Amino acid sequence: MSTRSGSTEELVVRGARVLDPCSELDALLDVRLSGGRVAEIGECLRGVRELDADGLHLFPGFVDVHAHWRTPGREDEEDIESGSAAAAAGGFTGVVMMPNTDPVIDRPAVLGGLVRRIERESGVRAYVAAALHEGLKGERLTEMRLLKEAGAFCVSDDGLGTQNAGVLRNAMLYAKTAGLPVILHCEDHTLATGVIHEGIASALAGVPGSPASAEDAATATALILAAETGARVHITHVSTALSAALVGFFKRQADVTADTTPHHLTLTDDLIGSLEGMWRVNPPLRPEEDRAGVREALGNGTLDFVATDHAPHASEEKELPLEEAAPGFLGHETAFAALYTELVLGGKLSLRRLVEAMSCAPGRWVGGLGSISAGAPADLALVDLSEEWTVSERNLASRSRNSPYLGKKLTGRIVGTIVGGELVHDRIGAAFGVRA
Ligand code: DOR
Repeated sequence: MSTRSGSTEELVVRGARVLDPCSELDALLDVRLSGGRVAEIGECLRGVRELDADGLHLFPGFVDVHAHWRTPGREDEEDIESGSAAAAAGGFTGVVMMPNTDPVIDRPAVLGGLVRRIERESGVRAYVAAALHEGLKGERLTEMRLLKEAGAFCVSDDGLGTQNAGVLRNAMLYAKTAGLPVILHCEDHTLATGVIHEGIASALAGVPGSPASAEDAATATALILAAETGARVHITHVSTALSAALVGFFKRQADVTADTTPHHLTLTDDLIGSLEGMWRVNPPLRPEEDRAGVREALGNGTLDFVATDHAPHASEEKELPLEEAAPGFLGHETAFAALYTELVLGGKLSLRRLVEAMSCAPGRWVGGLGSISAGAPADLALVDLSEEWTVSERNLASRSRNSPYLGKKLTGRIVGTIVGGELVHDRIGAAFGVRA
């Protein structure tokens, strides 16, 4: 975890429409930040340094529990500096990094080295998921207690599903005694033999598909084991209507939460008609019925929050035919705008629920983040809901370019991101008007 101490300097953010579902705030207010925390919320607050936020919305900083910053090993695709810059550009103030790196984050020495780099290089709060199994192989458990001592925040084999239910059950039991939450990528590899969703689109394209059961069967197994072991389990990137319904059923009997991604909420598998490698992602883009199912589940809280699965890949890994391309999309920088444009302006989700699903709910899951209240960390996202912008390679802070929204016109732009009272992303610079 990054130990950002935060800015000690006082700053008053003036005149923004403050929306924080966690604290039931929705009004034009001023917010005083001091010592890296929110000090006061009120009207007509004045300060030595003021940031004029007239016309902007102020949300609790977004929290993304699923990101691949490719460090160590593939810093050509993303490193801590570029990953955290991309997160900040998307309004994210807290991120959980996945361990499918090279080397895999499965030993305390590797984890400790990463934590030290984060402390030096990250502009946002970054937490590390250590591997659940050595080498992510789903065979031998990692030394979770030692990994926790070295700074692990949770455990996950993300990128791969655990294939053996007995092994997964032991992993849950061990994680529970180590006091670590488990993030699960649910995929049965004996069913997931294709490269896209198996359905009409895959048949028309003549590309091998993987059935939805590859996700659903693994999700059902994971939920049954979570209920039995009592482990704290988070199911990530839920992409089918049935998996979402299964999560809803098991919420009554297991300590389980779940997320879905901006791409599964906004895109469908007809895009793969173009056969471009760009559209390969895991779990795959699904048909409209699944998109509608996960949207409904996010709206009613069955799916707790949004996580991006920010997965940078070098151009040479994406500019390939579907079957050869690496799976994954960039996520941080477009998440809010894609969801605001498609779901909120499209009348499918309230702005309040979107903010809750990007700030409060994942902030609660991480612990102590995602709210604007006196004493809370001064982690905030300033947003211009009226700005229209086109996603282009030129305006991405990530080191990679594999955004599924390239060329798309979106509405809603993050104009400033504050972490621990410090402005870490400032898109309009001086125009922002921090008065000293
Ligand atoms: O599409 C994906 N890409 N899904 C995953 O689960 C892993 C990720 C990656 O690491 O590239």
